[in-house]
Amino acid sequence: MEVIIVKGADAVAEMGAQLVCELLNKKPKAVMGLATGSTPIALYQKLIQCYQQGEASFRAVTTFNLDEYIGMTADNPQSYRSFMDRELFDQIDILKANTHVPSCGLDDNPRAIGTAYENAISAAGGIDLQILGIGSNGHIGFNEPCSSLSSRTRVKTLTESTVRDNSRLFSAGEFQPHLAITMGIASILESRRVTLLATGAHKATAVRDAIEGPLSARCQASALQTHERATFIIDEAAASCLEYRDYFRWANSENTPIIEKFGNFYELDQT
Ligand code: GLP
Repeated sequence: MEVIIVKGADAVAEMGAQLVCELLNKKPKAVMGLATGSTPIALYQKLIQCYQQGEASFRAVTTFNLDEYIGMTADNPQSYRSFMDRELFDQIDILKANTHVPSCGLDDNPRAIGTAYENAISAAGGIDLQILGIGSNGHIGFNEPCSSLSSRTRVKTLTESTVRDNSRLFSAGEFQPHLAITMGIASILESRRVTLLATGAHKATAVRDAIEGPLSARCQASALQTHERATFIIDEAAASCLEYRDYFRWANSENTPIIEKFGNFYELDQT
């Protein structure tokens, strides 16, 4: 596992954007896994700038988002589909038909929808780079504590703490769903590369549990310890509870010359 500690939220977004641009330049038809939440917004702004400056094109890119609220139609401004259109898709050259956000109405069969979503990811060739945030309880996507570490796209009931964390985005009296459809941990671990972005002191214990804690369903992000190519890009505040943070800084400075020489996606040279 690679842990990159940078100064602040802007540097996290910058490093995430560099990784995405490098992937797109090496593989213009890349398949990306995308996340919602406040954290990736700064990354998406950087990607929009990259597109505007001609440093990246999304013309041939396919995307799959991690999750969506149940019963939330795409035209609802609170839906994750609306979020993605607003924060990224409408401002870059991606073809909307190539963007996927799981969608499950109250009367839909969630199992059938989950299987179809997994099949669509496979049919697209699998995810090259999955972007993740992390919940303050360690969730990734909406895989709440004690979800199966072998889970696939399905419905999850949100914990009280997640509902509370996300309530800041809903106005008083507005309908806030307690159910979501989310890619599972097994689905996420199948991505060829995973990058988790975290900023702020409120993420520090979740980040510590994910990186240094025991592999446990209690902290869903700890499942990334089993991934061959997982990279955490975190700021100083989010790194503040890490026992090994000096080691991570040192390892990173040792790795930099290798990355400068071969790039981050040298495995793609062989495909
Ligand atoms: C949400 C999303 C996650 C996201 C997390 C943290 O509930 N389902 O994908 O990573 O919470 O969000 P934020 O970046 O706003 O802290």
